[in-house]
Amino acid sequence: MQTGVAATSGDTAAPAIKAQRIGVPREIFLGEKRVATVPEVVEKLIKLGFSVCVEASAGDAANISDDAYRAAGATVEAGAAALWGASDIVFKVRAPTLDEVALMHVGQTLVSFIWPAQNPDLLKALAERRITVLAIDALPRTLSRAQKMDALTSQAGVAGYRAVIEAANAFGRFFNGQITAAGKVAPAKVFIAGAGVAGLAAIGTAASLGAVVRANDTRAEVADQVVSLGGEFVKVDYEEEGSGGGGYAKVMSEGFQQAQRAMYAKQAREVDIIITTALIPGKPAPKLITAEMVRSMKPGSVIVDMAAEQGGNCELTEPGQSVVKHGVTIVGYTDLVSRLSTQSATLYANNLFRLSEELCKTKNGVINVNMEDDAIRGLTVTKDGAITWPAPAPKVAAAAPAAKPAAAPAAKKAHGHGAPSEPMAGNKLAVMFGVAALLFWFVGANAPQAFLAHFTVFVLACFVGYMVVWNVKPALHTPLMSVTNAISSIIAIGALVQIAPPLVVGAAGRPDDWIRWLAVAGIVLTSINMFGGFAVTQRMLAMFRK
Ligand code: NAI
Repeated sequence: MQTGVAATSGDTAAPAIKAQRIGVPREIFLGEKRVATVPEVVEKLIKLGFSVCVEASAGDAANISDDAYRAAGATVEAGAAALWGASDIVFKVRAPTLDEVALMHVGQTLVSFIWPAQNPDLLKALAERRITVLAIDALPRTLSRAQKMDALTSQAGVAGYRAVIEAANAFGRFFNGQITAAGKVAPAKVFIAGAGVAGLAAIGTAASLGAVVRANDTRAEVADQVVSLGGEFVKVDYEEEGSGGGGYAKVMSEGFQQAQRAMYAKQAREVDIIITTALIPGKPAPKLITAEMVRSMKPGSVIVDMAAEQGGNCELTEPGQSVVKHGVTIVGYTDLVSRLSTQSATLYANNLFRLSEELCKTKNGVINVNMEDDAIRGLTVTKDGAITWPAPAPKVAAAAPAAKPAAAPAAKKAHGHGAPSEPMAGNKLAVMFGVAALLFWFVGANAPQAFLAHFTVFVLACFVGYMVVWNVKPALHTPLMSVTNAISSIIAIGALVQIAPPLVVGAAGRPDDWIRWLAVAGIVLTSINMFGGFAVTQRMLAMFRK
C-alpha cells in the first residue's frame, strides 16, 4: 500500500514518483523503552522526501509525546495493524515477532535489529513474505563510511555509560577522592574487564566521575585507547595475541586464561567496583569472575555484569536481576540501553537517518537498496523472497592488505597521459632545483654582503626545519607545535639584553626606563609561552607513552 505524497514537479507528462511512507511502530518487547525515531529526526526524514507515520504512544517510554511527533510533521496512527499496513518502510528497534510479521505486506522494507544468526525462523518468515530486510546489527563495522550508521556502537556506548551509573547507584561511596572537613575520602577503584565499545564508554564515564580506573582486554591494541580515556591498562603476564580480526577477540589458550584468572583475582581483592563487558561474538561470555573472587571482594563492592544476557562474565550473575551475594551487589540488568531510553532512541534514530540518506541519495523519498554498495549489501539479509545473509566480506576490508601494491599501477593507467607519473615528478623536481639555483646565483651576485650572511642562515634554517617537521608523524604535530612555541620564547634573551646594564662603562647609554619596563613585560609574557609550551608538550607526549 503506497500512501505517500506525490513528489512530482507539477509537469503533467512526467510519471508521478510516489514518496514512500516510513512507519514507526510502538515496541512491544517487554521492558523495551526505545523507539526507532525521534521528532528531530522526523523533520530530517521529511526533508529527504519521505512522509512519516508513528504509532500512537510509540514514544511514551522514551518521554516523547504523540504531539511532539505531530509538531515535527509526522502523522500519528492508532493501532499497530493500521501503522504496519500504511507503511512502505518500517523502522523498528527490536526484531519483529512472528505476529508483527503477519501484519506486513509484500514489497515492504524493514529496518531493525534482527540478529539473523540467532533468528533463522524469523528470517525465513520475512523472506517468504517477500520483505526486504535491512538488519542494522549486520552492518559491516570495518567500513569507516558505515560508522555513522553503526547502531551497535551507539547503543553499546549508552550501555557502558549506564553501567557506571548503575554501579554508582549501588555503591555506598563517592567515586572521586575528596578532602572534607570531616576527613579524607579515597577515590573508588574501578576495574573494567573488556575494553570494546561498552568498556571504553564505561572507562571514560568512571574516570570523569573521578574514580581510579583500570582495564584489561585480550586485545593488546586497545591499551592506548584505555590510557587516552583516563584508565590504566593492566596486562596479563602471558604473551599471546588476542585479536581475532575485525576488532573482535579470539578464544585464548588455557595458559593465558590461567594467568588472566590470577590477575583478575588480584584486582578483585583490590578494587571496589568491577564492570565486565568481555565477549566474543557468537560465543558464550567467558567466565572471568569466579565465585571465589566475589568472596574476596570488600563488603559493599559492586559488580555490573554487562554480558549477563550471554550467560554473564561472573559466575554468580543472575540475568535481569540485581542481587547481593557475599556482601557484593551483582547487577545483571539486560536492559541498560532502555534505562537511558531518550538518549539511546535519539542516537538510534540518527543512525537510521544516516542509513536513509545512503538509501535515498536522490532525496525524493524513494529508497534504492543498492546491492553493489558494500554497506547496504552487508545490511540486507532478505530481498526479493531470498535470504541474502550472510553477506560476502566487504571488498574494501577483505582486499585491504593486498590492494595497496595493486592500486599504484591502476592509478597510473587512470591518468591516461601516456607518460608514467614518477619520471614526471622527477623532471618537475629537477626544474624546480634548476630555477632555485639560478635565483640563488642572482641573489649571490647582486645582494650586499651583510644581507647574504643573514640570507644563508635563513635558508639553512628553512631547510633544517622542513626536514625535522617532515619526518614527524602527523599525530605528533600538535606536541611539536607546542614545543616550537616554547622554543620561540628565545626572544626572552633579547628582552634580557635590554634590561641588563651596559657591559662597557661609558658605552652608548642605558635604554630608557620605558624600554626596560617593556622588556620586563616581554619577559613575563614570554615565560608564560615558554613554560606553558613545555607543559602542554609534556601532557601531549604522555598520551602517546605506553
Ligand atoms: P565488543 O565486542 O565491542 O567488546 C567486547 C570486548 O571484550 C572486546 O574488546 C574483546 O576483546 C573483549 N574480550 C573478549 N574476551 C575477553 C576476555 N576473555 N578477557 C578480556 N577481554 C575480553 O562488545 P560491546 O559492544 O562493547 O559489548 C560488550 C558487552 O556488553 C556484550 O556482552 C554486550 O552484549 C553487552 N551489552 C549489554 C547491554 C545490556 O543492556 N546489558 C547493552 C549493550 C551491550
